Amino acid sequence: PAPVPEIRKGLAGVVVDTTAISKVNPETNSLLYRGYPVQQLAATKRFEEVAYLLWHGELPDAAELAEFRAAERAGRALQPNVKAAIDLLPTTAHPMDVVRTAVSVIGASDPTTDDASREANLAKSTSLFAALPAIVAYDQRRRRGEDLVPPRDDLDYSANFLHMSFGEVPDQVVVDAFDVSMILYAEHSFNASTFTARVITSTLSDLYSAVTGAIGALKGPLHGGANEAVMRIFDEIGDAGNVVPWLDAALAEKRKIMGFGHRVYKNGDSRVPTMKASLDTLVAHYDRPDLAELYDALSGEFVERKGIHPNLDYPSGPAYHLMGYDTETFTPLFVASRVTGWTAHIIEQAASNALIRPLSHYDGVDERHV
Ligand code: SDX
Repeated sequence: PAPVPEIRKGLAGVVVDTTAISKVNPETNSLLYRGYPVQQLAATKRFEEVAYLLWHGELPDAAELAEFRAAERAGRALQPNVKAAIDLLPTTAHPMDVVRTAVSVIGASDPTTDDASREANLAKSTSLFAALPAIVAYDQRRRRGEDLVPPRDDLDYSANFLHMSFGEVPDQVVVDAFDVSMILYAEHSFNASTFTARVITSTLSDLYSAVTGAIGALKGPLHGGANEAVMRIFDEIGDAGNVVPWLDAALAEKRKIMGFGHRVYKNGDSRVPTMKASLDTLVAHYDRPDLAELYDALSGEFVERKGIHPNLDYPSGPAYHLMGYDTETFTPLFVASRVTGWTAHIIEQAASNALIRPLSHYDGVDERHV
């Protein structure tokens, strides 16, 4: 039999292309978006500026930002055909399925025939970026039996997102924590969903198909679905005092502890300290020290036992919970952010395309005849 070539399961450690969008450095525990440390962006910029940076390679000047903000505000309303499509879906549908379907409807309704140019893809990216908050917010509201809240164009992206979700603008500390989460989730090199988007783009398919596929990849609990899964674990454990017996049982059953571990970062996720600081402001604001105790107890115990560190989904899950989001809405919030990174990669892939088509080693039955 032919020798088995070296196979890297899950493409672990395989470099498949170059990118100028972000740099993940596990040794120095850093993440750069277009050269800027993500922590600095989270501390000094708003999510709109970071979205612009990811697409254009530079932060916007005042005039560019004003123009971009105007375009985002103009695209915020939930379009009637998208609302009608959402309303056809049962309220028991997972919100990730609803968001995936809504993006598909937007794509099918876009009359543009240009699937490849940078200009056309930038325009589509901006309109998806603008449209997603209404989709995510409305789906949560309809599941709660609440009405659609129209956008307010006097508010920034994050304040408007929260307004459309809850019918009111929360205190600035909440808006700021939400905006930080959007910035931290925006981009992370060749993660599974971004790679999915690049594979789809590589066949010369369209941007909406690539984003729809990426949403499907993000849904899984080994990837974006982990922020939802973290909250379910918190609900199971209940309070800090139950962590040790709960973890004993979970590890005995060889369960994966959601929100911990990462394919690239083995000594901790560079985004966690920034998101944890935002979570701390929310814990103080909502006066929920019990949640912080549970957070610390589980991470302390798990890191001590296994040496596996939290990833971004660990602090972001409880942060979204404190803001008032339903647990199943957490991963759609990740979509609203990551659509910026996905579309930046789609544009980059289209600009220097090669069909992505790897090989496999056959290990089935030998040739035989009917
Ligand atoms: C994201 O790639 C990205 O950039 C993704 C992301 C982004 O911004 O796009 O950062 C977002 O997806 C974060 C990851 C969210 N997923 C989870 O939190 C799910 C729980 N974590 C894992 O299952 C796991 O750590 C992965 C999926 C994140 C990484 O998996 P790998 O790289 O395939 O590592 P592995 O499963 O081979 O783990 C190595 C060892 C194994 O033990 P052994 O078989 O060697 O004995 O570590 C163990 C694993 O069982 N392990 C865990 C664990 N994570 C790793 N054991 C229990 N609980 C965990 N969470």
